[in-house]
Amino acid sequence: MNRTFDIFVPGRVCLFGEHSDWAGGHRRFNSQVLPGRVIIAGTNQGIFARTSAHRDAFIFRSTLPDGTRPETCILPMDKEALLQRAESGDFFSYAAGVAYYMLTFYEVGGIEVDNYKTTLPVKKGLSSSAALCVLVARAFNKVYDLKLTTRAEMEAAYQGEIMTPSRCGRMDQGCAFGQVPVVMTFDGELLKASRLGVHQHIRMLIADLKGQKNTIRILADLNRAYPFAQDETGRNVQAYLGKINTDVVVRAAAALDKGDAAQLGALMNEAQAEFDRHLMPACPEELTAVKLHTVLADPEVKRLTYGGKGVGSQGDGCVQFVVRDDDSRRGLGEYLERRYGMECFQLDLKPPQTVRKAVIPVAGFGTRMFPASKALKKELFPVITPDGVAKPILLTIIEEALQSGIEEIAVVVRAGDEAFFQNFFRTLPPPDFYNRLPEKAKEHCQTLQELGDRLTFITQDEQQGFGHAVFCARDWVGNEPFLLLLGDHMYVSDTDVPCSRQLIDAFETNGRRSVIGAYVAEADEVSHYGTVTGKWLNDKQRLLDISELAEKPSLDYARNNLVTPGLAADRFLCIYGQYVLPPSIFAHLQREVDGDIREAGEIQLTTGLELQRREEGMLGLVVDGVHYDTGLPETYLNSLVSFYTGRPTKLVAKKAKRKR
Ligand code: UTP
Repeated sequence: MNRTFDIFVPGRVCLFGEHSDWAGGHRRFNSQVLPGRVIIAGTNQGIFARTSAHRDAFIFRSTLPDGTRPETCILPMDKEALLQRAESGDFFSYAAGVAYYMLTFYEVGGIEVDNYKTTLPVKKGLSSSAALCVLVARAFNKVYDLKLTTRAEMEAAYQGEIMTPSRCGRMDQGCAFGQVPVVMTFDGELLKASRLGVHQHIRMLIADLKGQKNTIRILADLNRAYPFAQDETGRNVQAYLGKINTDVVVRAAAALDKGDAAQLGALMNEAQAEFDRHLMPACPEELTAVKLHTVLADPEVKRLTYGGKGVGSQGDGCVQFVVRDDDSRRGLGEYLERRYGMECFQLDLKPPQTVRKAVIPVAGFGTRMFPASKALKKELFPVITPDGVAKPILLTIIEEALQSGIEEIAVVVRAGDEAFFQNFFRTLPPPDFYNRLPEKAKEHCQTLQELGDRLTFITQDEQQGFGHAVFCARDWVGNEPFLLLLGDHMYVSDTDVPCSRQLIDAFETNGRRSVIGAYVAEADEVSHYGTVTGKWLNDKQRLLDISELAEKPSLDYARNNLVTPGLAADRFLCIYGQYVLPPSIFAHLQREVDGDIREAGEIQLTTGLELQRREEGMLGLVVDGVHYDTGLPETYLNSLVSFYTGRPTKLVAKKAKRKR
């Protein structure tokens, strides 16, 4: 099967240490020069692509930030042809340069890369060309399972880019680390890079000064100070790019680690002042940068920010600010646009979220909801929110995941259904429909599009069960823990913390073992749901060390084996429909798939969970909330009313049996 991989590569912005990267390279000739140190961060904006293997060609489709698509690049997977294209210096030369490098060093086959969306602005000092090179290196890495590290991808991107007439620094490929700050050290030929911690959300704003700058001139003038400074100006350049910069970078890394936005802003001001004092005299024409300094000195800007400085080679290119909060960021963006006509981009430095991804399988047939499920997938059936909005069930689940801090969601769909789902989330209704919508509904259209950006659709080609649907997401999940949500349930928290966030918190604070959401169920429910038991880990009887997991046990079996101390008579712990699982679950599901281990003809998740429990242990969390099943006619009816009224309501008793 030709697998498809989704890739996102951000741009990168240099927070501190600009120019010290190449300066550190001069240590090859003068050991007195100090190593360069920079802190970079991946931007919120980036390049989105899908990639898969191709028999013998390198095919690259690109989308520009304005949505236009240049002509597709199709080249034979042949060194001569790729090199020729790289050297041509045209739009696709970067991609061809990396493909040439990958073919030469890893003997890979062909590949198809569809860069279907680009939110990263070009030529704004955010390294869009390096992001493109990292994208191609990563695409080969994934498709041919080369097991390259991030550093090796960066190297491939760098080597590919220098095949082209354009020259790039070694800092640019740091975007390969993703949306995290990274400190890089440049010591002669040696490059070290490591991720930095961020313990609090730091909000930044980058603005395009809409000025002119001549980077080549700046580089040429500053380089005159190397490898040996000839005069006072040169010594000042070396002092700033050496000791002074190192000192600022070390303190900035500590401020980031603490999440101290005020200190980070103050350090930006300090870095700019020292930069101006030491570097401006070496290239006054470019570095006097009137626009940059006017904005930095503006009292309104100072009021809204903790500090700021130039970006990239400096000059009148872009400026970056650490802002006080979301309101001041909004205010600053509006002010800069109104007062100076500047375009702004947000940058967020956030604590790494360990559970970033969620999987929602919606590929089942929904036989128990037939014939309605023939007309519409049951996960898209309507429900009415308490504030009176008609939504498909799936949308409420996606919202639950995003409210819990999830960044990316894979929805597992049936083959052939992708276009339908993509259309729902990514396309506006036709103009005559859209124009008749009330304002509120138009806002919903906007929200759907934004949600669509976070979604990936994965296909389950054959309906082999819930466990198999989860297994289909293994490549997308990769080596990360993930949140799993049933596609035909709705979840309502009894507290301010969404249900899935409760599970994620339990996962992160309890040794990162699997956490399965549970609820206290009545006797007549156990034979319809997965049921667990174990030993309570706290007095509040919320967290459980699971000792047994049974798939739809009989009531007799549950009474004899699944009684959990502390619950009322004939009450059991059933599975809630939410899970946080480490990626090791895929190895267990693989064993089921390879060994064709099935229950009721399907690859079950519970079987894989039991294998995982035996090897790694497993926690159960009694969720502070209510879940509403919508997979059966009667439960759908009850759930519809309960969800709307906010009160669990049982209009009718359940008749049909759950399979799971
Ligand atoms: P269910 O157990 O409710 O199965 O799936 P189903 O096949 O959808 O429904 P029935 O039994 O035929 O009525 C739980 C979740 O797992 C998904 C479903 O779409 C649902 O959201 N699922 C199930 C898959 O994605 N693939 C499968 O092969 C089975």
